[in-house]
Amino acid sequence: MNDAFIYGYAVEGENFTDRKAETKRLKANFEHGVNTLLISNRRIGKTSLVRHVGRLVNPKKALVVYLDIFDCRSEYDFYNKLATAVLQQTSSKIDSILQNAKNFLSRVSPKISMGPDPTSEFSLSLGITPKEYAPEQILELAERIAKKQKKRIVVCIDEFQQIGEFPDSISVQKRLRGAWQLQQNVSYCLLGSKKHLLTNIFQNKSMPFYQFGDAIYLGVISTENWVPFICDKFKKHGLRIDKEQASRICGEVENYSSYVQQLAWLVMLHTEREVTSEIIDTAMNELIAQNAALFMQQTEGLSSYQMNMLRAIAAGIHNGFLSQEVLETYRLGTKSNIPRIKKALIDRDIVEQRETGLYISDPIFNKWFRRF
Ligand SMILES: Nc1ncnc2c1ncn2[C@@H]1O[C@H](COP(=O)(O)OP(=O)(O)OP(=O)(O)O)[C@@H](O)[C@H]1O
Ligand SMILES: [Mg+2]
Repeated sequence: MNDAFIYGYAVEGENFTDRKAETKRLKANFEHGVNTLLISNRRIGKTSLVRHVGRLVNPKKALVVYLDIFDCRSEYDFYNKLATAVLQQTSSKIDSILQNAKNFLSRVSPKISMGPDPTSEFSLSLGITPKEYAPEQILELAERIAKKQKKRIVVCIDEFQQIGEFPDSISVQKRLRGAWQLQQNVSYCLLGSKKHLLTNIFQNKSMPFYQFGDAIYLGVISTENWVPFICDKFKKHGLRIDKEQASRICGEVENYSSYVQQLAWLVMLHTEREVTSEIIDTAMNELIAQNAALFMQQTEGLSSYQMNMLRAIAAGIHNGFLSQEVLETYRLGTKSNIPRIKKALIDRDIVEQRETGLYISDPIFNKWFRRF
């Protein structure tokens, strides 16, 4: 029964729902060589979507390479990961991978080990350093392989915001964009969480990746789509939930993908036959409790002014922080404090600026904070 609802990692197959319009758009971008930037809040479903589309693309039309750079700390960490992924995912046989390495990266000696990586039978390590190759030489690897194989390649780079943390990040970004925008046979899909950081990389006019490609802001999955998904899963497990209850599960977590699945799972755990509203209440409390440690961590180190602004936002104040009344009621200090407090909360991704004002990004954080 533990496969009923999945949360916390990318989903596929029957655990993946909806995203029809986004799938179509992304698939067309992949097949026609259009660069894409994919941004959303955390755990909404970026990775799931990109992997889903990667599986749908006809390999005769394009080869899709996927890498996650969350653990890369520097420019060359990134080049090693990129070159490895490109070599490994553009051929299906070890022999041809090694042949490509020999042809295109003759100054390194690749090491192959039968590793624990569940996504492939073996792991490849290249050990590229600036001594062997300049950045530009690594960055053209995919283009050279694409030409040789006479096939388009799409390189998907997940957790791309990590680039913003590299030493000398802006120069690195300039090098990447400079090389990538000239490539005829390779396109890129750059995606990531930490919305604030990534938005800065993509949307700031003075940043190298400004207007690099088709920008997609991935929203939540609609209740209309979630309800049959949830009802089907309960049914498969011999349990009853009605549409209104499934819809309430979505509403409680504002349709945030990962939370919808987590809450539905908690509800299922308590259900012997039929869901009741008391069960949903209990599950909701558990959901908040299970995430509390993470939220505590996120608020650690906030100043009392920052905490006070969060209190104001959680109480429904989204604008007008400069008014005397708000300043006094929520003890925010002087007017000149406000921009700094806002920036600190946005930089930490706790708060986001929407069209209608400042909001707490995560709906469960919001509920937790109001009780806290
Ligand atoms: N299309 C979908 N159908 C059903 N559930 C989904 C879908 N997309 C995401 N989810 C739910 O959200 C969770 C997180 O998905 P995923 O890892 O793809 O999100 P993400 O935006 O890449 O997250 P992160 O910000 O952590 O990188 C999944 O485990 C699943 O519970
Ligand atoms: Mg992800």
